[in-house]
Amino acid sequence: MNIAIVGTGHVGLVTGACFADLGNRVLCMDHDQTKIQLLQKGNIPFFEPGLAELIQKNIKQKRLFFSTQMKDAVKFGKVVFLCVGTPPRSTGEADLSAIENVCEQIANHLTQYRLIVEKSTVPVETGAQLKKRIKQSVRRQVSFDVASNSEFLREGSAVQDFFKPDRIVLGVENERSRRILLELYKPFNVPIVVTNVEGGELIKHACNSFLAAKISFVNLVSQVCEKVGADIEKVAEGVGSDRRIGRAFLNAGIGYGGSCFPKDVQAFIKICEKLEVDANFLKGVERINESQKKRFVEKVHRAMRGVKGKTLGVLGLAFKPDTDDMRCAPSVDILTELKQAGAKIIAYDPQAMEAAKVMLNDVSYAKTPYEVCKGADALLILTEWREFRELDLKQIKKLLKHPIIIDGRNIYDPIVPKRMGFQYYSIGRKGFK
Ligand code: UGA
Repeated sequence: MNIAIVGTGHVGLVTGACFADLGNRVLCMDHDQTKIQLLQKGNIPFFEPGLAELIQKNIKQKRLFFSTQMKDAVKFGKVVFLCVGTPPRSTGEADLSAIENVCEQIANHLTQYRLIVEKSTVPVETGAQLKKRIKQSVRRQVSFDVASNSEFLREGSAVQDFFKPDRIVLGVENERSRRILLELYKPFNVPIVVTNVEGGELIKHACNSFLAAKISFVNLVSQVCEKVGADIEKVAEGVGSDRRIGRAFLNAGIGYGGSCFPKDVQAFIKICEKLEVDANFLKGVERINESQKKRFVEKVHRAMRGVKGKTLGVLGLAFKPDTDDMRCAPSVDILTELKQAGAKIIAYDPQAMEAAKVMLNDVSYAKTPYEVCKGADALLILTEWREFRELDLKQIKKLLKHPIIIDGRNIYDPIVPKRMGFQYYSIGRKGFK
């Protein structure tokens, strides 16, 4: 099938490259010329494992094309995926100006039937509004449909998630759209949930809010663990072994971040409020997430007996491992507070240091994890990159001025650093809080 993708961010590029790899012909469109030139050479503007290789392969096999022109996209794709950003407004609502603008442009170029599909996360009822907008702007009598097909890709494992989804969600308003999307997803042997457009839109916000709630829930329980001397790892295992609950997303830490959960929980709160549905549950999820970062800062103060004039070595800045994304990373709030309290920061992240430089002033950056430790008063762990789990703790102990580790992601078995003579602090673990 011929597909057009509008917007070459994380969602758009992964969707485009993966659909091409399944044998479709895909044209990715973005108004950013520099980005398109970069992509035409097979380079990608962010870090995502496996994506650059997939793009290069499909360009070579002449299944993946790029353009800066909306006209090309609408002419090319029977299905046009909307993959532009829906960032939060200062009020918390999703800013739909980019997606609305793109729909106006699509309307201007519509000459034959097209299925326009929302991939970006949007508030429920956006599809209906977009349909109205396009209808008002089309120049001639031409039929089109709007559908919703949310993506559930995680940064860092997006390519793998695309090819091995748990399910596919299609929000359609008629048989024609349903048939086209089922044809496109034919290679996938997974459950396909077909509902109306509103249902499709809602599933995405509900999913992200539920996952965020799971994280806040485990973080709340970790706070109780610290008060009573229980171990959150064991408690999460015990709770998560109930098949109705599941162990995934029950890892206590310094809170969720990224470009999705914080924004989507906020947007869902706004939707509930608009629809006069009680949003207190979701507000609680947000509140716990904020408190988890504050508690970590307090933990650092307690462990160090104040941070003024002290040097803190920091491992991990990205909002999670396997990405260079710093958007709403907990590290930003945590390090900003510690700097304000007079700490000096030296940090290392395998991928996110360039992005971090834009968001964090007055931070020195090291070339290796060990360089971070040299002469530091303590070591903080803020992202659970796999390579940090395998560091030589003996060497770290020699390099640190004081053998203190404050681990915000519980990456070590506490007994190991303790036996080696570290003061080891972590989240919600008896004796190491
Ligand atoms: C999330 C969803 O998981 C995807 O399904 C969805 O498609 C995507 O948002 C989106 O809406 O585009 P992502 O933001 O890439 O994906 O990252 P996650 O792996 O979900 O992690 C989000 C945050 O939660 C990270 O800060 C992570 O450290 C934190 N987290 C996750 C925890 O603190 N504990 C956990 O147990 C799991």
